[in-house]
Amino acid sequence: MSKAYDKLQKCLKQIKEKTDFVPEIAIVLGSGLGSFAEKIDVKAIIPYSEIEGFPVSTAPGHAGRFIFGNLAGKRVVAMQGRVHYYEGYDTREVVLPIRLMRLMGASTLILTNAAGGISEKSYPGCFMLITDHICLAPSPLIGENLSEIGTRFPSMDNIYDRDLRKIVKNAASEIPLFEGVYIQTTGPQYETPAEIQMYKAFGAGAVGMSTAVEAIAAVHCGFKVIGISCISNMACGLSDTPPSEEEVLEIANKSGTLFSKLLISVITSI
Ligand code: HPA
Repeated sequence: MSKAYDKLQKCLKQIKEKTDFVPEIAIVLGSGLGSFAEKIDVKAIIPYSEIEGFPVSTAPGHAGRFIFGNLAGKRVVAMQGRVHYYEGYDTREVVLPIRLMRLMGASTLILTNAAGGISEKSYPGCFMLITDHICLAPSPLIGENLSEIGTRFPSMDNIYDRDLRKIVKNAASEIPLFEGVYIQTTGPQYETPAEIQMYKAFGAGAVGMSTAVEAIAAVHCGFKVIGISCISNMACGLSDTPPSEEEVLEIANKSGTLFSKLLISVITSI
């Protein structure tokens, strides 16, 4: 057994000691989606800090927790808070929670984030359904393969599942949503205007600092993945004001209600 798989099993054991809840759908809640958790009929809450070996956010007040419960007739586990590569964690550590939720039993994963808009279709407060990604961070699959959960050379042809994308589009009939490619930078600095022009030429519709490495690990371990970005700002150089954390959080929080509505509608339809 690889060391990483052993660590996963140890984390899983600690969770099973606290709850026997078996989720079908896993959700990673990005910035602004805090209120979504209120919609869950909660069965158990486990703070990440109570799981030995679990990567805990270095940002004060952002430690995070798993919320287990029922929503729209489905058994869900939601991650309130995630860790990022820019915090100093290796991408292999960043994706531990994703693998853990798969081992808990979930088979569909909904990844959400706040992102900077690059596409001409984007504006702050709208949403992007991720069709594909470009990952500029190191692969979370580097190193010994966890053969217990996935293959050495997984295909990335259908990362953001085509059938699930159709479901999201139907569920979003009254919500401003466009489709596009997500590009993940390492962060933590925002991009330069020149980098944004390059990413635009690459075909990216939105830029962020999470999600792609999580999606890679998710596909590797057999999840079907949905990715949705909340466009919190225009990417650097595409509006009069450069991106700032304040703007990202303000718009992401303002969009939280609509984002929650979209997610509930998606979960209902899955
Ligand atoms: N760039 C990178 N990450 C982000 C942005 C951005 O403009 N907005 C929200 N997350």
